[in-house]
Amino acid sequence: MKDFKRYLVTSALPYANGPVHIGHLAGVYVPSDIYVRYLREKNKDVIWVCGSDEHGVPITLKAKKEGVKPQDIVDKYHNIIKESFKELGISFDIYSRTSSEEHHNTASEFFKTMQENNKFIEKTTEQYYDPEAQQFLADRYITGTCPHCGYESAYGDQCEKCGTTLNATELINPKSAISGAKPELKNTKHWFLQLDKNQDFLEKWILEDHKEWKPSVLGQCKSWFQKGLQPRAVSRDLNWGVPVPVKNAEGKVLYVWFDAPIGYISATKEFTPDWEKYWKDKDTKLVHFIGKDNIVFHCIIFPTMLKEEGSYILPENVPANQFLNLEGDKISTSRNWAVWLHEYLVDFPNQQDVLRYVLTANAPETKDNDFTWKDFQTKNNSELVAILGNFINRTLVLTNKYYDKIVPETGEYTQEDKAVFEDINKSIKNIESNIETYHFREALKEFMNIARIGNKYLADSEPWKLIKTDAERVKTILNVSLQITAILSITGEPFLPFSSEKIRGFLNIEKQNWENAYSNNILEAGHQINKPELLFSKIEDKEIEKQVAKLEKTKTDNMLENIEIAEQKEEITFDYFQKNDIRISTIIEAEKVAKTKKLLKITVDTGIDKRVIVSGIAEFFKPEDIIGKQVLVLINLAPRKLKGIESQGMVLMAESPSGELTFVSPNGKTENGSCVN
Ligand code: MF3
Ligand code: ZN
Repeated sequence: MKDFKRYLVTSALPYANGPVHIGHLAGVYVPSDIYVRYLREKNKDVIWVCGSDEHGVPITLKAKKEGVKPQDIVDKYHNIIKESFKELGISFDIYSRTSSEEHHNTASEFFKTMQENNKFIEKTTEQYYDPEAQQFLADRYITGTCPHCGYESAYGDQCEKCGTTLNATELINPKSAISGAKPELKNTKHWFLQLDKNQDFLEKWILEDHKEWKPSVLGQCKSWFQKGLQPRAVSRDLNWGVPVPVKNAEGKVLYVWFDAPIGYISATKEFTPDWEKYWKDKDTKLVHFIGKDNIVFHCIIFPTMLKEEGSYILPENVPANQFLNLEGDKISTSRNWAVWLHEYLVDFPNQQDVLRYVLTANAPETKDNDFTWKDFQTKNNSELVAILGNFINRTLVLTNKYYDKIVPETGEYTQEDKAVFEDINKSIKNIESNIETYHFREALKEFMNIARIGNKYLADSEPWKLIKTDAERVKTILNVSLQITAILSITGEPFLPFSSEKIRGFLNIEKQNWENAYSNNILEAGHQINKPELLFSKIEDKEIEKQVAKLEKTKTDNMLENIEIAEQKEEITFDYFQKNDIRISTIIEAEKVAKTKKLLKITVDTGIDKRVIVSGIAEFFKPEDIIGKQVLVLINLAPRKLKGIESQGMVLMAESPSGELTFVSPNGKTENGSCVN
C-alpha cells in the first residue's frame, strides 16, 4: 500500500429532511468511523469531515407541506442528526452544514473560478413554468399522467408506479404541484458542466489507474461511460440554495449536487486554517465514503468539478456500499420503515456498541443485506455477551479473586502461550489489511477471533482447576489472558469504542497506539487493575418484541393512510350523463386471457346481443365464480383491442378506497337489457 502523508476522509452529507436511520449508518457512517478511528490509532494525520446537506427540492417540498420555511426544516434535522451521530460515537472532526455562510462563499467561489475560466457551457432550454406561482418548476414539482402506464400521479422525473424515468415534458396533463396550474413551456438559461469533454480523462483515471476500486463502483462508472457522458446542468430555477454568483441570474441557484460535495471543502476550511494542504497536496489520500446511489456524483461529477476548477486533488478511493433492508423490506423515510438512530438511542441506552457491532457484521459491502431484530438479539447474546464479554469477564474475575486485582508475574511461556500470541498477531495483521481495503465485516470477524482465541485458551488451560495443583502456572495463564484483554481494547477501538473505553477502565490503562497490540506485555506485572463490571448484557425477548411491534404498527398505519375516499369529480349535466348506455346483462362465459395476470375475457348477454368484454378483474375473481352473475355493462363504449381481443363495452365495478373490486348487480333478478338511468 502506498503510504500517504495525510488522509482526508469524507462521508456523504445526509439530507437534512429527516433523521438518520440504520441504512445510513451501515452504509456510510459506521464504516467510515471504523476507518478513521483505526488511522488515528496508527497516529496518521487524518481529518474526517461531514455535515448536513441542506439544499435541494425535497426540503422545499417538505417545508411547503408543513407550512414552514425550508430553514426551519433543516435547523430541526441538522440538530437531531448531529446529536445522534455524536451519541453513537461517530467521531467526525467536524459536522458542518451547507446553509452556513462559509459554505455559501466556498461554493460561490468554486463556481466563479470555473465560470471565469470558461469551464461551463451556457444554454437556454425550454422548461415548465407555473404562471400562477410565477416560477419555473423543477421536475419533481410537476405531476401528471404517465405516458407508459397511465398512472395519474407520476412525477416529472419518474413514474413511481411503473418506475420509468421521465422528462417532465412527456407527462400527459401536466400540473404544477405548487398551484395546481397547467404549466407553460418557457425559455430559461442554465450552466452545464462538460462531462462529455472529460470522458476520456475519467475513463483512464478510473478504469486504468483505479482498478482496485470495488467492482460495483467500477461497474456503475463503466455503464455511464458506455452510455456516453452528456453535459449536465449545474444550476436550477429555485429560490432555495446557493445563488448562482453571476449577474442577471435572479431566481437561480446552484444544483444541490453541485454545492453539496463542495460542502466537504467548506467543512475542512471551517475545521482548520491549514485546509489547503489536505485538498491540494498530492500526498493526501482522499477517500469518499458513500452509498451506492451516490456513485455517479462522487466518481464522475465531483471529480470533473475538481479537475475543471484546477487546484484540487482527486479521490484515491470511493468505497460505496449497497443498501441495508429492514425485516425484508426496503428502508423508506416516507413510509417510516426504518430504525431511527435517535429512537434507538432512547430505547437502548448505553448500547451503542451493540448497534455498531450488528451493523458492521451485517454491512452491505458487496450486496444488499437485511437487518432483523431477531438477528440483532442473537448477535448480542451469542457473540458480544457469550464470546467477547465472557472472555474478558472470566479473566478479570479470576484476577480479582486470586491476585486481588494485581497483574501476576509470568513464568516461562509454554508452546501454548507462544502459539496464542502468534495466532493473535496474525489476526491483528488481518484486521489491518481488511480495514485498509475497506473490508470491515472481515476485519470485525478477525477482531472477534482474538476473543475466541482467548476463550479457547482459558477453556483448554482451566486455571480454575489448576489453581489447586499448579498455582505458579495460573499466574502465567492469567497474565496472558490480561494481555489479550488489553489487546482487545486496542483492536476493538475502531469497532466498539465505548466497550474499548470500558475495558481500559477495567484494566486501569490509558488509550494505546495500535502497534502496542503486537506486544505481549502491555500490562506489567504488579500493575493494579480495577474491579470488573459486565461489558455486555443479554437482550431479552420482550425488548425485541417491542421493536417488532413498533414496526408492525408502522405497517398498519401506512395501510390506513393510503386509504382515501376519491374526491368528487367535476360537475356534468343530466344530458351528458344520459349519453351513457348502461344495461343489465348476464355473464355467460368467462376465462383468463392467456399470459396476463389481470385480464378476464367475459361474454355477456346484454339483452340486445351477446358480446365479448375484456376486463381487468382476474386478480379478484375466478372465472367459474362469476358465470351467471347479473352485472351492469356500459355498452356504447368505443370498442378497443386488449391483447388482440376486441373488447366491446365495460363491466361496471365498485372500487373501494383500498382498491378492492366488487360487482354492481341489480337487487334481485332483472331482465337483461334493462336500462340504468
Ligand atoms: N445528501 C446526499 C444523499 O443523502 C448525499 C450528498 S453527498 C455530497 O444522498 F457529496 F453531495 F455531499
Ligand atoms: Zn408509469
